[in-house]
Amino acid sequence: MTVHFIGAGPGAADLLTLRGRDLIASCPVCLYAGSLVPEEILGHCPEGARVVNTAPMDLDQIMAEIQTAHTAGQDVARLHSGDLSVWSAMGEQIRRLKEMGIPVSVTPGVPSFAAAAATLGTELTLPGLAQSVVLTRTPGRASSMPQGETLVNFAKTGATLAIHLSIGNLDKVIDDLSPAYGSDCPVAVVYRASWPDERVIRATLGTAKEALDDSISRTALILVGPALAGEGFDESCLYSRTYDRRYRPQSAESPWSSWSHGDD
Ligand SMILES: C[S@@+](CC[C@H](N)C(=O)[O-])C[C@H]1O[C@@H](n2cnc3c(N)ncnc32)[C@H](O)[C@@H]1O
Repeated sequence: MTVHFIGAGPGAADLLTLRGRDLIASCPVCLYAGSLVPEEILGHCPEGARVVNTAPMDLDQIMAEIQTAHTAGQDVARLHSGDLSVWSAMGEQIRRLKEMGIPVSVTPGVPSFAAAAATLGTELTLPGLAQSVVLTRTPGRASSMPQGETLVNFAKTGATLAIHLSIGNLDKVIDDLSPAYGSDCPVAVVYRASWPDERVIRATLGTAKEALDDSISRTALILVGPALAGEGFDESCLYSRTYDRRYRPQSAESPWSSWSHGDD
């Protein structure tokens, strides 16, 4: 018996990996994390599967469900939104399952920041503008931030910021970022990326407070950084006609001329 943690993706039911779909179809028990996992994905569960929404449950109750499945020798599909590597609460569940001697597997999913970037049609790492993406959040009622992981600190890097779980703190986000990024810096808020009711608001740090009303209060990403403008960046060397590289040596003297694909 195994608990299969599966990233259910950002919302659209077809943004699920084939591996995730097949695992869901093979498990007689499915525990899913609330409203962010679309019902259509639950449609992959086999007929007669026990399908449980864990949103109202605490960790002990979730572990009790898994223990029952374990005793019955039934595999469990454990679904969380987006990818499991960020804000999924997978860590604490795996820790408990290890103590209980229950095997786990992990199948990644499409994270919401990638879905939001796709909606915007934007590469978040544009040469000359930004070469790093910071996945972060602001403190919430239930979660403090480690010292040092502040927006003011991240802003000093000039990287593209993908700020999760923070739409309710928008004013403070803007106030913290404006000194380093400047009021002209582009901002995009993507609400429920890839869902049918997806919305996008584009603004700058200077106009964002005005551009956003209270109608978006959850499930939104705030993306900030010069790359969001999608202009004023350099071309990469990757496809440059003159750049000497492994797959396109520029001359017989190139160190790459004698390289064969089998070397790597
Ligand atoms: C508990 S975290 C889950 C993150 C998830 N594990 C991931 O890979 O993106 C929930 C936050 O992720 C962001 N989020 C999740 N799904 C989203 C979506 N479809 N569109 C925009 N933001 C989303 C929002 O900031 C939301 O408050």
